Amino acid sequence: MTDPRSTRAAIRHALGRSAAVVGLQWGDEGKGKIVDLLAAEHDAVVRYNGGANAGHTVAVDGKRFGLHLVPSGVLHKGKLAVIGNGVVVDPDVLMVELESLEAANVDHSALRISAAAPVVMPYHKDEDAAREKLLSTRRAPDVHSADTEPIGTTRRGIGPAYAEKAQRASAVRVGDLVRPKLLRKKIELACEIKNRTLAPLLDGKTYDAEELIAWATGHGERLEPFITNSLLLLQETLADGRTLLFEGANGALLDIDHGGHPFVTSSSTTSLGIGPGTGISTRGLGKVNGVMKAYQTRVGAGPMPTELDNAIGERIRERGREFGTTTGRPRRCGWLDLVSVRHAINLNDCDAVALTMLDVLAGFEELKVCTAYRLDGEEIQYFPVDAVDLSRVEPVYETLPGFSEEIMDVRSFDALPSTAQAYVRAIEDFLGVDAAIVSVGPDRTQTIRRS
Ligand code: IMP
Repeated sequence: MTDPRSTRAAIRHALGRSAAVVGLQWGDEGKGKIVDLLAAEHDAVVRYNGGANAGHTVAVDGKRFGLHLVPSGVLHKGKLAVIGNGVVVDPDVLMVELESLEAANVDHSALRISAAAPVVMPYHKDEDAAREKLLSTRRAPDVHSADTEPIGTTRRGIGPAYAEKAQRASAVRVGDLVRPKLLRKKIELACEIKNRTLAPLLDGKTYDAEELIAWATGHGERLEPFITNSLLLLQETLADGRTLLFEGANGALLDIDHGGHPFVTSSSTTSLGIGPGTGISTRGLGKVNGVMKAYQTRVGAGPMPTELDNAIGERIRERGREFGTTTGRPRRCGWLDLVSVRHAINLNDCDAVALTMLDVLAGFEELKVCTAYRLDGEEIQYFPVDAVDLSRVEPVYETLPGFSEEIMDVRSFDALPSTAQAYVRAIEDFLGVDAAIVSVGPDRTQTIRRS
C-alpha cells in the first residue's frame, strides 16, 4: 500500500500547480480561447458547472467546433477531458458533439463523464420553456422593471435539471444510464410526478416511461466507455503528479447565489463551485485566472447598468460579433462595469485576469468605465444582492481617452497605443489585479502575454 501521507502530499503539490479559468461577467468573456491557451500547460481539462447552456467555438486546423458540453481539452492530443459531477449533461447534445468530433477525425477517447452528473431529461427542457412562457404573461412593474420579463433562459433545461438533483429520488444521473433497474425505477417515478404536476403547464402533455427508458438506455450504451467515478480519477491524476485546469462555464454575475438573482443560471459559476462540482478542494489551487472582456455584454433578460441601447452599443456588437454561440441571440452591449467585475474578482479570488476583445474598442474617441453605482442618491461601491436593486442603480462613469489604431496585429504590450495601455492600467488599478493576458483577436496568435 502506498503511504497515505505521501499520497496526500502529492495531491496537494499537484493542486498547487493546477489552475482555473472563470468568467467575470455575464458569460461569453472568451473563456474558450484562454482555456485553449492554458490547456497546453496542464494534463487534464475539467468542467465543473453548467451544461449545454454554455458554448464556445474552437478552431483547430481550420475546422471550427461548437462545443457545449465536451471540455475543449479534448482537442489537445493526450489531454484528459473530464465532465465533472457538477455539470448537468444533456445526452442528446453530447451525442451531436461526439459525432461532429468523429466526423472530423478528432480522437475523443480521453473524454470522461462523471457517473454522478445529473442528466438533463426531455421533461426538463419542456418545463424550462413552459416556465418562461408563463413568466412572459406576468407583470409586476411595481417591484422592478425587469420583473415584467421571463429570465431569458437558453431553454436547455438547466434550471429544472438542477432542481431535480435537489429533489433527489427522481433525479437520473449519468451512471444510472447503465444500471437498468435503477434507471427504470427513477424514470417511472419521474413520469408519475411530471404527469401529475407538469401536464397543466404543458397543455396536457404527458410522458411515457417506456419511451424515456428506451431513450435513456440507448444513450447509456453509447456513453458507457466514457462514464467513470470522476472524483477518483481526478484524485489519482493529482496523486500521479499531473495537473488540472478547471474550466468554468457561464460567468460570475450569473451565479445562482451571488449573481443578480433571479436573472441568473442555476449553478455555482465561480471558482467556489469547483469543490462541489468535482470533489477537489480548492484550498490549495495554484492559480485562478479570471477572464473579462474590455466591455460588458449580456444575453437574456435582467438588469445591466451600463447597457448602451444606442449607436455605440450597436458598434460594439458589430465589431465584437456579439451574437450567442448557443442560441444565436444578439447580445446586449455596454461600457465596462468595473463594480460588477470587482465583485466577480473577489468571489473567485482571482490571481490574474485575461482581458479579451480589446481590439473591439478601437476607433472610439473616448472610453467610459463604470467605477461606482448611484442608488437612492448615494454612491455605492458594491454589487447589490439581487436584481431588484441592480435594476435601480445608475452607473457612475470615468472617461478615458480612446485609441484610433487597429491593434489586432500587436503582439507586445509596449507596442499598443499609449491610450490603450492606459485603459488596461486603469482597469488593473481599479481591480487590484494584473492583466497577465491581453487578447486582441480570436486567433491563438492574437495574444499578448505579460507574465
Ligand atoms: P439558463 O442557464 O439557460 O437557465 O439561462 C439563465 C440565464 O443565464 C439567461 O440569461 C441566459 O442567457 C444566461 N446564460 C446561461 N449560460 C450562459 C452563457 O454561457 N453565456 C451567456 N449567458 C448565459
